[in-house]
Amino acid sequence: MEYRIATISGDGIGPEIVREAKKVLDKVGQKYGHKFNYEEVLMGGISIDTYGVPLTDEALETAKKSDAVLLGAVGGNVGNSRWYDVAPNLRPEAGLLAIRKGLNLFANIRPAYLYNDLAGACPLKQEIIGDGFDMVIVRELTGGLYFGERHTETVNGVEQATDTLVYSEKEIRRVAIKAFEIAMKRKKKVTSVDKANVLDSSRLWRKVVAEVAKDYPEVTLENMLVDNCAMQLVMNPRQFDVILTENMFGDILSDEASMITGSIGMLSSASLNESKFGLYEPSHGSAPDIAGKDIANPIATILSAAMMLRFSFDLDKEADAIEDAVRKVLAEGYRTVDIMDAKILVSGGRGVGEEGFGMLKELAEVLGGEVSCSRAVVDNGWQPRDIQVGQTGKTVRPNVYFAIGISGAIQHVAGMEESDIIVAINKDETAPIFDVADYGIVGDLNKIVPALTEKLRAVVK
Ligand code: IPM
Ligand code: MG
Repeated sequence: MEYRIATISGDGIGPEIVREAKKVLDKVGQKYGHKFNYEEVLMGGISIDTYGVPLTDEALETAKKSDAVLLGAVGGNVGNSRWYDVAPNLRPEAGLLAIRKGLNLFANIRPAYLYNDLAGACPLKQEIIGDGFDMVIVRELTGGLYFGERHTETVNGVEQATDTLVYSEKEIRRVAIKAFEIAMKRKKKVTSVDKANVLDSSRLWRKVVAEVAKDYPEVTLENMLVDNCAMQLVMNPRQFDVILTENMFGDILSDEASMITGSIGMLSSASLNESKFGLYEPSHGSAPDIAGKDIANPIATILSAAMMLRFSFDLDKEADAIEDAVRKVLAEGYRTVDIMDAKILVSGGRGVGEEGFGMLKELAEVLGGEVSCSRAVVDNGWQPRDIQVGQTGKTVRPNVYFAIGISGAIQHVAGMEESDIIVAINKDETAPIFDVADYGIVGDLNKIVPALTEKLRAVVK
């Protein structure tokens, strides 16, 4: 079969992750005899730069005419991007809201599943994780606070802002039906989440959901207040099968659910209308801080492409193949830094010099804010164990170790048997260690880490 996919690479890490998902789709196409034709559509910051608005009518039309839409992410750094110097309805995220509304994508499906191999990246205790969890969040996507009337005014000299939360019976019913339909194919339990002890919209929500439930006698319906749900997600995530909730609660709870799967970089999503049409996107944002470094986790986007095959094209076998491949890649130990179950310490010694030290700092930044960078120097060369972090006087035993230099790297490796991963980066061509001299320092970490893990483990043993 031939399919027409509108791709929206968007901003930040968007283009990198969409590129990876397209590679996977093309491979599936090759293997199973399908042809996926892509048409790139501008949305978000890139559309603002090109057309002055986050989504043009033409872009929306192209998306409408396609069989499905694959989206990366939109938006920039709110603190310093010029995209945020304009009115809210002209900012990148407004494009996302406009396409959701314009395509009538009222049901947002976000699965949160813990991969066995990522249990170590899950921040919950083992006794809570048990044998893992597997839930789907069904979030209403075109109503509620996101689309209610809003304005800011000055009343008696005091600035005041208003957002309105409106839900009609019809809006609640159609998304509730989706949730029950999904539950029928799973463990047949729906937890409807609201704030019925305070909000009228929630009381209506509860009433309509109860009516819909009557048509699904096999499905158990449970109501839960949103604050309690936030707590239950980290206390006992195994109780959930399908969580049904309104737009804003769903936004918040789906981030929380993704975090307990190890990383938001794992969570795919589908936004559907009444027909088979859908927009598929990772649940995470554009991560401008790591954009362009080729270290973003593409799995959420790849899994979103699998959802597209399943929901919009009825290609179940092909979707299974992608999901199996992701499981296999994780089982083989390949990791991006966000799902690495290890403490990462970037360190350097006296021999590194100013330039090397600069590179170490850059590495530390690339690997995430929590990484410490120190100059671990002892008089007779490198001191691999119990490294002092910065000037704090605190010592740590890292289990991922980045060493830079020549003589030092060898000693590091010798002393770091307890580490999970050691990457020795040698800039000096005269003494390449573990063939890493050819790798770039920053841009290729995705390749460095998995490629070297095994080799280095073998060496330290
Ligand atoms: C999401 C995102 C969006 C939302 C933002 C980018 C507007 O957080 O898809 O969850 O709040 O819906
Ligand atoms: Mg969100």
